[in-house]
Amino acid sequence: MKILDLLANRRDEAYALHERHLNMQMVRVLRTIGFDVRYTRATGAYLYDAEGHCYLDLLSGWGVFALGRNHPQVVAALQEVLTAQLPHLVQMDVSPLAGLLAEQLLAYTPHLDKAFFCNSGTEAVEAAIKFARYATGRPGILYCSDAFHGLSYGALSLSGDEQFRAGFGPLLPATREIPYNDLEALERALAPGDIAALFLEPIQGHTVLSLSDDYGREAARLCARHGTLLVADEIQTGCGRTGRFCAYEHWGLEPDMVLLAKVLSGGFIPAGAVLVRKPIFDKVFNRMDRAVVHGSTFSKNNLAMAAGLATLEVIRQEGLIEKAATRGNLLLEQLRALVPQFEFLHEVRGRGMMIGLCFGKPQSTARRAAWNVLEKASPGLFCQLITIPLFTEHRILSQVTGRGSHVVKFLPPLIISADDAEWILRATRAVIADAHRIPGAVWDLGRKLAAQAISRH
Ligand SMILES: Cc1ncc(COP(=O)(O)O)c(C=O)c1O
Repeated sequence: MKILDLLANRRDEAYALHERHLNMQMVRVLRTIGFDVRYTRATGAYLYDAEGHCYLDLLSGWGVFALGRNHPQVVAALQEVLTAQLPHLVQMDVSPLAGLLAEQLLAYTPHLDKAFFCNSGTEAVEAAIKFARYATGRPGILYCSDAFHGLSYGALSLSGDEQFRAGFGPLLPATREIPYNDLEALERALAPGDIAALFLEPIQGHTVLSLSDDYGREAARLCARHGTLLVADEIQTGCGRTGRFCAYEHWGLEPDMVLLAKVLSGGFIPAGAVLVRKPIFDKVFNRMDRAVVHGSTFSKNNLAMAAGLATLEVIRQEGLIEKAATRGNLLLEQLRALVPQFEFLHEVRGRGMMIGLCFGKPQSTARRAAWNVLEKASPGLFCQLITIPLFTEHRILSQVTGRGSHVVKFLPPLIISADDAEWILRATRAVIADAHRIPGAVWDLGRKLAAQAISRH
């Protein structure tokens, strides 16, 4: 079977097939917001549709494509592995590629000694929950308000958003939410001494809020004092996105466990990792009969390990961490300069190539009334007035960070050029300016979306 022939013959049926056999609601969403484009090609930071239009991808597959899409070095590494007829998933063996990837990852986190590989972000979270409970002998896990750690049961139990949880309970017991950046709440939660771990996103994917200056350091100190492990979820922020290999480095932290996924895949082969202190790891894998007490069939597979190794090489060779810091922080500053000009835009958050535009209620009467109409129809709807025209008029793919959220997020590939950054700035300024014109085309769209939202109630 030739996959490309199959694609050529039946590509146009993608929406019909999904409607029939997969998630029909996704088809409805894409059609409603006008994102139902037929992509045929992807390279670097760009997606191309069947008509040859070029789109700048700031969604990056939920933060996967730090190197851009189809990076030739990662492709070459994978092809090499595929054609070499290497032994693979022997299971009763140790994988050299896994050893090499562990060595390289741990060189970025020198205070940690061991790596555990898995197949996704949520699996990394599951492993960290189990390691924390086993190593401490305690049940409790703390997570923060607005946290997102994944959608399998353990990870979902640490993700506050009710939209994801409703109807799926009961979730994991002894998990507790505390407010983000609130030291007193943390201290109170730790006091009984039954907490195995605190899970923290140094920059939250949902809010794009960062740890406050003193919280990270003080939280680490409190955790250490109470025998609680600090787990940094770097699944979205890691591998250079924020201008450091891991975002916790901005605060000088040394978490007991660090979780990576997304970028590690090179954009091809799902991969996740838990980097951990030796005493924790050695407690879990403490006897020969427990050598496989946690794991999964496909973790450490050659393709994933090769993708990880090639990704780290590209990050180093192309100076992508430094690039994320310089280009990303410049773009952030330029976007921040829009805040005083546009009353719907309240704040621009983030670091490096993780950027959140936070919208809120304006001061002036007409705009405030328009905002209220949208909020009443469906909280957070205003953000669609930004992401939809960004896509349909400026060919920039971005996202609202969740239902009810007032944050539009950009996760650009770390490779974007100065021209791409200019494209982002120009388009963002234009769509925000349009949203300030009432009446105007954007508010016609707003009325349409509000009517649809109300009819769904
Ligand atoms: C911070 C964070 N943790 C965990 C996850 C879950 O990762 P995955 O989707 O690979 O399961 C995500 C995914 O978006 C994430 O952003």
